[in-house]
Amino acid sequence: MLCLEGLVKQYKTGDRALKGIDLDVPDGQVMALIGPSGAGKSTLIRCVNRLVEPTKGSVRLNGQELTKLGQGELRMARQRMGMIFQEYALVERLTVMENVLSGRLGYTGFWRSYFRKFHQTDIDEAFRLLERVGLDHMVDKRADELSGGQRQRVGICRALIQDPELLLVDEPTASLDPKTSRQIMRLICELCEERKLSAIINIHDVLLAQMFAQRIVGLQLGEIVYDGPPGGLTPDVLTQIYGEEDWESTIEAVEEEDGDEVIDEEPEAAGGDQQAPDLGRDRMAGMT
Ligand SMILES: Nc1ncnc2c1ncn2[C@@H]1O[C@H](COP(=O)(O)OP(=O)(O)OP(=O)(O)O)[C@@H](O)[C@H]1O
Ligand SMILES: [Mg+2]
Repeated sequence: MLCLEGLVKQYKTGDRALKGIDLDVPDGQVMALIGPSGAGKSTLIRCVNRLVEPTKGSVRLNGQELTKLGQGELRMARQRMGMIFQEYALVERLTVMENVLSGRLGYTGFWRSYFRKFHQTDIDEAFRLLERVGLDHMVDKRADELSGGQRQRVGICRALIQDPELLLVDEPTASLDPKTSRQIMRLICELCEERKLSAIINIHDVLLAQMFAQRIVGLQLGEIVYDGPPGGLTPDVLTQIYGEEDWESTIEAVEEEDGDEVIDEEPEAAGGDQQAPDLGRDRMAGMT
């Protein structure tokens, strides 16, 4: 369970990005955080793992107060929070496998990290995760040779190999086409369910948020203006969050989507007649 109490962030520039946020995210809950640009969504996510230092207030993850931790303890605590970014943040010249394994660096001793020597159990887990997201045939591909959707899948694996208690996800679909966006959101939500993980997902796309999240929190100018079920996002609520617009059309679209939509779950990379060569497993074994 994540508990935020009276969370305030005032940047040096004087911007009060968060004005006293109270928010509990129970175990296993996938929560979408929506709101206009500048509402404070990224700031909130980053205050949780202290990539941004909160000015005031409390952040507790399963009972542990995170705002008071020293550097060493903070490093340990960050391993319990997987982060998935919009811009993927992969190391371009490293392979898919190496990027995933980099999620274990915090758990690997200094010299093992230095020589990028990983435990066989970590390599096996990385294979399992890549298999789960449909990229097991791409372990040896360099990150800079991947499509956006494939890169995001690698980012998801890298976050999950940390074995986190909480996922912090910032705009995971912002650079993806609509179909890939749905696949990525579905994948994140399925993985959270399988692993009983809670997640905060910042997302601009209200439709996607409504389709996949169990709970929606609407942020506006650093304050929560909506906290409730996806079905509660009425035109009035959307106006409160984003301002005046013709919200009826958005809501009708959601209602249509709720029908018997079928999406081809085949990841774009694992397509058709492509052979899945047994790349990498032997090579990676050499890394232990
Ligand atoms: N490093 C910073 N220094 C000063 N002000 C900042 C900084 N980062 C963000 N802000 C300000 O804090 C407010 C919230 O920004 P934040 O990036 O959290 O919004 P957001 O909801 O994630 O927006 P977007 O949807 O565009 O990503 C904005 O007014 C922004 O200008
Ligand atoms: Mg943002």
